[in-house]
Amino acid sequence: RPHLSMNALDGLTLEGVPLNRIADVLGTPAWVYSAGTMRARLAEFTAALAGLDAQVHYAVKANDHLAVLRIFAGAGAGADVVSEGELRRARVAGIAPAHIVFSGVGKTEREIRLALAEGIAQLNVESPAELEMISAIASGMDRVARVALRINPDVDAGTHAKITTGKAENKFGIPYADAAALYAHAAGLPGVEPVGLALHIGSQILSIAPYRAAYGRAAELVRALRAQGNTVTHMDCGGGLGIGYRDDPGASPAAFAGALRAAFGGMDLKLMTEPGRWLVGPAGVLLASVILVKGSERFVVLDAAMNDLVRPAMYDAWHGIVPLAAGNAVGPAGPVDIVGPVCETGDTFARNRMLPALSAGARVAILDAGAYGAVMSSTYNARPQAPIALIDGDRWAVIRDRQLQTELWAGERIPEFLE
Ligand code: LLP
Repeated sequence: RPHLSMNALDGLTLEGVPLNRIADVLGTPAWVYSAGTMRARLAEFTAALAGLDAQVHYAVKANDHLAVLRIFAGAGAGADVVSEGELRRARVAGIAPAHIVFSGVGKTEREIRLALAEGIAQLNVESPAELEMISAIASGMDRVARVALRINPDVDAGTHAKITTGKAENKFGIPYADAAALYAHAAGLPGVEPVGLALHIGSQILSIAPYRAAYGRAAELVRALRAQGNTVTHMDCGGGLGIGYRDDPGASPAAFAGALRAAFGGMDLKLMTEPGRWLVGPAGVLLASVILVKGSERFVVLDAAMNDLVRPAMYDAWHGIVPLAAGNAVGPAGPVDIVGPVCETGDTFARNRMLPALSAGARVAILDAGAYGAVMSSTYNARPQAPIALIDGDRWAVIRDRQLQTELWAGERIPEFLE
């Protein structure tokens, strides 16, 4: 984590900015993102793709803040979106329609219309029913939708069951065996132009072997389709590259690019990639304060909770937790459970973690929270959404205010018949 460092004077810093200073202004819980880290990671990912005709389409779902999208737009990335909201965010942040692809297993008619009206690059189709729907809508609008068929390669990505998407039993994609016939059928439909294939086998993938297997199967299918006289120009290779939440380095873009070269090198395909977590995960932290310590010092209760960062509760995910200042810690290291104040046992950030003893008021940073952090927050227990700050070099700015208590019920009404 090259942008995070600790020194005696400033405590934990991100891009050199003391995180305590931001917590002093915003209070806690609060998210902090590093623009420099995001740019550096996009640059590393893009550099790994050198020599391939490949584009990065950032997976907006990982972190959809407008400022984050602007950083990636400014650095030349496109976007992978899965909803009207994500499409609108990408456009507002300045990503051109020609650099947007639309994925997802259940696009609504309204979303398909919007995508066609905007003229985005491509819709990734996940079923025969959706293909017919796009054909009908596009024909009615007098447009031609460029589509890729998302195949389900039936490959085990070796990741958590809740984020595996490329096995036959998962809801995603078109069964491999059905794809060739559907592609030929698509070529004959009005309003659609099949341009290629897409696949995405899962998330937080740390081994390159499942990518090799999936891309090998996709390349085989491209060759078969071409042999049958179909035009295939695009291959959307998905995302899923994992990061090192514990002290491991995570998956390397260079190794990922190696799998792309091995499968698709020399095939004259325009490749697309959809990384999300790898680009933004390490670029964000969640700051929290200790409310109190209880149970013979065993439970450290933070003011952040599962409604802020749900990953530990939802996927048993491991996140590093470090005190913001060395001075915050009193006493020796010991195994503690770091928990939130929400009324569920699952509201636990870490179990049996070796940490210096922390007292009330001490602040900590929960690391690698830039991906699937704020985007998955809820207001459970009527807890407002936390504010967000963005650091860029020696500057920083608040990019989202803390939600007001009154905003929590702003859209609610007590009907007359209850009065
Ligand atoms: N493309 C498609 C079609 C996807 O469904 C996803 C993620 C991505 C790209 C980006 O995957 P990434 O590079 O970020 O792994 N909330 C979970 C992760 C869910 C991933 C869903 N799809 C978590 O916190 O681990």
